[in-house]
Amino acid sequence: MKFSNTLIYWYLQNKRALPWRKSKHPYFIWLSEIMLQQTRVAQGLAYYLKFTEEFPTVFDLAKADESTVLKMWQGLGYYSRARNLHFSAKYIANELNGEFPSTYKEIIKLKGVGDYTASAIASICFNEPTAVVDGNVYRVLSRYFGIATPINSSAGIKEFKALAQSLLDTKQPGTYNQALMDFGAMHCKPQNTLCDTCPFANSCVALEKKLTKELPVKEKKIKITKRYFNFLVIKTDDHKTILKERKGKGIWQGLYQFPLIETKNISNQKEIVASEEFQNLFPAETTLSLFNKKEIIHKLSHQHLYTQFWIVETSSLKEASISWENIEDYPVPILIANFLKEYRLKSN
Ligand code: ADE
Repeated sequence: MKFSNTLIYWYLQNKRALPWRKSKHPYFIWLSEIMLQQTRVAQGLAYYLKFTEEFPTVFDLAKADESTVLKMWQGLGYYSRARNLHFSAKYIANELNGEFPSTYKEIIKLKGVGDYTASAIASICFNEPTAVVDGNVYRVLSRYFGIATPINSSAGIKEFKALAQSLLDTKQPGTYNQALMDFGAMHCKPQNTLCDTCPFANSCVALEKKLTKELPVKEKKIKITKRYFNFLVIKTDDHKTILKERKGKGIWQGLYQFPLIETKNISNQKEIVASEEFQNLFPAETTLSLFNKKEIIHKLSHQHLYTQFWIVETSSLKEASISWENIEDYPVPILIANFLKEYRLKSN
């Protein structure tokens, strides 16, 4: 049997009796779909009932104060959803005379509405064949087809949307979408899957290969650390500077750099001059100026380096042993090479 036929057959026998399923009016479907983002049906249900009682039409919601709307949203979290909902309600009531947009293309223009919500509303209310992809859909499809593409990668998002779209029952897209979501929520659950009684047991790749616990795959997002680098570009009267080799493990090991002061935030002249590193290098008179007014953000895989180059003019220094003419002989990180290029352009 076709995937969608098996699915819809299951749905017709098992679907949840949810209050918004009594209606195909876009106001109710929109409200429920926004509420159910990042929220389980069991939790969203009471809020939906309270909202529709207080605001039975889009005009009632539009007329309310934002603080009333937020108060009623209290406990659901992700409050930008409530603010966007209220904003869009005012737009629909005042600009569209209460007429809800009726195509995916128009619905997705509403504030707070993304691909998921637009697909749900367009398919459930207007029969438009647009596939919904939420966490349930990712789980069911990745398991059934044995797909290990990470669901939070751009390749994964594209692949699963295209797959869900190709499986869609175009005659009843709203039913297909809700069937897939209910099947994921009730049967093909994150844990305690009900494989023993699954209508797809004969053809599910994950079941056959014992991969249900491994799928779907989620990519671990790496944490990016921000660092604040201040390089001291020294110019002595006799055209010398200091470059130091970076020792130890870590970024740029073995490469050369200007003396570096790392700070906790974007720094200023006062902080640099007061720092111990600066005082040790320049006990006497110096002139300090910032070369790049806007910090340069150098992006590495795990770190973003917010970088400022400080030009330090001073008479002469014992440590300053590198002549500016020979600076090209030293291997430097690209961040410093780029600075040198620009610095030379500006000085000539
Ligand atoms: N989760 C969010 N919206 C849903 C819907 N319309 N049907 C089933 N589960 C859902």
